[in-house]
Amino acid sequence: MKKLTELITVTVKAAFEKCGYSSEYGSVTLSDRPDLCQFQCNGALSAAKKYKKPPLTIATEIVNSLKEHQDFKDVTCVMPGFINITLNDSFIIDFLNTMMESKKFGCEEIGENKTIIVDYGGPNVAKPLHVGHLRTAVIGESIKRMGRFLGYNTLGDVHLGDWGLQIGLIIAELKRRSPDLIYFNIDYKGEYPEEAPFTITELEEIYPTASNYAKINAAFMEDSKQATLLFQNGHRGYVALWKHILNVSIKDLKKNYANLNVYFDLWKKESDAQPYIPKMIEYLKDNGFAYISDGALIVDVKDDRDTKEVPPCILVKSDGATLYSTTDLATIIERMELYKPDEIIYIVDKRQELHFEQVFRCAKKTKLVSPDTKLIFLGFGTMNGKDGKPFKTRYGGVMRLEHLIKEASDKVYKRIIENKGIREEEAEEISKKVGLAALKYSDLSNQISKDYMFDLDRFTSSEGNTGPYIIYTVVRIKSILNKFLSMDPEYKTGEISLQLLCSESEGSLMLKLTQFNEVVISSFTDYSPHKICQFIYDLSNEFNKFYHENKIISERDPQKQYSWVNLISLTKNVLITCLDLLGIEVPDRM
Ligand code: ARG
Repeated sequence: MKKLTELITVTVKAAFEKCGYSSEYGSVTLSDRPDLCQFQCNGALSAAKKYKKPPLTIATEIVNSLKEHQDFKDVTCVMPGFINITLNDSFIIDFLNTMMESKKFGCEEIGENKTIIVDYGGPNVAKPLHVGHLRTAVIGESIKRMGRFLGYNTLGDVHLGDWGLQIGLIIAELKRRSPDLIYFNIDYKGEYPEEAPFTITELEEIYPTASNYAKINAAFMEDSKQATLLFQNGHRGYVALWKHILNVSIKDLKKNYANLNVYFDLWKKESDAQPYIPKMIEYLKDNGFAYISDGALIVDVKDDRDTKEVPPCILVKSDGATLYSTTDLATIIERMELYKPDEIIYIVDKRQELHFEQVFRCAKKTKLVSPDTKLIFLGFGTMNGKDGKPFKTRYGGVMRLEHLIKEASDKVYKRIIENKGIREEEAEEISKKVGLAALKYSDLSNQISKDYMFDLDRFTSSEGNTGPYIIYTVVRIKSILNKFLSMDPEYKTGEISLQLLCSESEGSLMLKLTQFNEVVISSFTDYSPHKICQFIYDLSNEFNKFYHENKIISERDPQKQYSWVNLISLTKNVLITCLDLLGIEVPDRM
């Protein structure tokens, strides 16, 4: 189904052509001044330059040719040459009736036959998820859901960090604590036990202990580096330990992500890309892309147009070690081989921008990907505390993600339990959903690249541009519909088309609903979930205004009542669909 602005654009373009101007000037957009009109076309201003006529003259000609058009209620021109358009109610109603009957409420599947990989999450094994992992999980999940909704073959990949020094640190620490474990006995040739020699709780203690100890003890740091090298080169016992670390860690990570309502299609790891490295290096060397400089193997990626220095991409250090870039390049090769994506979207802290710039340039320059493969870096800003620095706990530590979620749901719980008639258990379930919605919505309603301030009181408020406010609106519509159905159990929503408008707030609500397909598509193509947030906030406001002005349940005229019921039911479905695209679940009541 075409977007509403596209449909109007077709008509206005035809008018430009009819009046002897190029149709390119006929683009129509939503009005900047909704108090004056619904849509506007500014084409007469640019056409004026080309045709050397005053803009108002051109605009007047267009307006005259559109005046009688059946789709338009009002077309006027205003200084210096804007064309203001308001649609006929029937045109909007026809659009909404078609939308109600269409698959996905009229949102076209622009991604058909295209594959995208969304690289998000990016946790490192053995380290618990903390607040720093919230944004990538929440934004990535939303981008993935939007892509899938729009018909892309979409693969979300957690891209687990399992190849670095953290593994060596853990192995070295285990060895320090229990040197007699069979994993450290080089003479041992048998099978290793299936059960890991540690639990997740122990693992989460072992890693920070080791990491802190390595900072003050150079010999231990050396042991850890050595262990890293050995496990990377296939030391039997160390590899067995690494597998244990992976298993224990992945099980726990899956649980934690499920708690966030975040689900990955692929649980690929940095280690999976390692086998691709030797061939890649050979290829880069043989084709003259990579060369040795100061003992390291590098690829130049600078560009004449650079305003800042972009250092070369280092693939192998002088000591023979490969780097983060090497793994990311090899991962691109692996992904191309396994999934042939048309686009890979990385959702990573914006402080890693240079790294990705180097990797992308290197991949393009060396033809690891075709020129039209899109490599997109979505760098996100930091969630800050009130002091403007990255958010910390009251005691100055980094907050674990599960504690953050708990804090948010506790806050909501207190409010909900005050409602009479809700059992403790149900209140808990509801507050978990609403608390999570509060966190996710506040994160997504900000532009991805911007920092934002953590303010739980504001996030969990049921007023203003918040997750709980939107959910509250959906729950309210659900309860009106339930009440209506209990009075009229025979009624099936959708059977009756929408009717002509009766009030202004009804018209505004309808007009807002028409924007659904346009908003979803541009949220995805601009990688901007905040556009969906803005849309559902506006839609909720329009609904609440409409609801206050019209008594749906006590309406006597059945035609009117049915039409309203359909209108609010469509509103509810659109809100729920949008929330789902943001990864937000709605409870039945609140
Ligand atoms: N594990 C990395 C980190 O903690 C993030 C991974 C992001 N994705 C990627 N393909 N490099 O910084």
